[in-house]
Amino acid sequence: MAQSLFITVEGIDGCGKSTQAGLIADALETAGRDVLRLREPGGIEISEQIRAILLDPENGEMGDVCELLLYEAARAQLVHQVIEPALAAGRTVVCDRFYDSTTAYQAFADGLDRDMVAQANELAVNGCRPDLTFVFDVPVEEAYRRRSGRGAEDRLELKGGAFQEKVAAGFRAIAAEEPARVKLIDAARSVEEVFADVSAELRAVGA
Ligand code: TMP
Repeated sequence: MAQSLFITVEGIDGCGKSTQAGLIADALETAGRDVLRLREPGGIEISEQIRAILLDPENGEMGDVCELLLYEAARAQLVHQVIEPALAAGRTVVCDRFYDSTTAYQAFADGLDRDMVAQANELAVNGCRPDLTFVFDVPVEEAYRRRSGRGAEDRLELKGGAFQEKVAAGFRAIAAEEPARVKLIDAARSVEEVFADVSAELRAVGA
């Protein structure tokens, strides 16, 4: 049976991670892997329903702890229903965001206690950790430019530039803390240049 592999992609909104996730999934499939592509919050019916609550601009009164628990609820179900069984079957999972997003957004940017967020993450993932994580680092203004063609902003995007700066700093801190797992990629370049760096990291783990 093939060796399972769990890859996550992270970064601020508009960093280009979803494009890179698609390229990663295609490359690994071409290399003969059985690849499952997911996104967070979401990926399955229950978690997509939770995503709709989280992103709805009408839910402006949502408190930080409610938000944290909704992300964790969506994640717990995705891990239980899809990610754990897929990895147990030797599949490759490429997930757009995972618990590093919660650390960056809810702890670093929203200011929730980092230990509490770490415990909530652990409750949701039950020991299921990515083998490799890419953080796509772009200046906040560049990410804003990339997003501006996409239409109406969701509840999170409405939080503004200062919030995105804190998220970006959070992701950089996570990458510095866990360099073996988390690769910080300069994403303020062309899709091809960024993917060249990503490919080098994939080769380094034998993917
Ligand atoms: P997306 O735009 O990448 O699909 O992500 C949806 C939004 O949810 C994005 O603004 C980041 C936010 N988010 C958190 O704040 N915490 C989390 O744990 C996750 C997974 C996403």
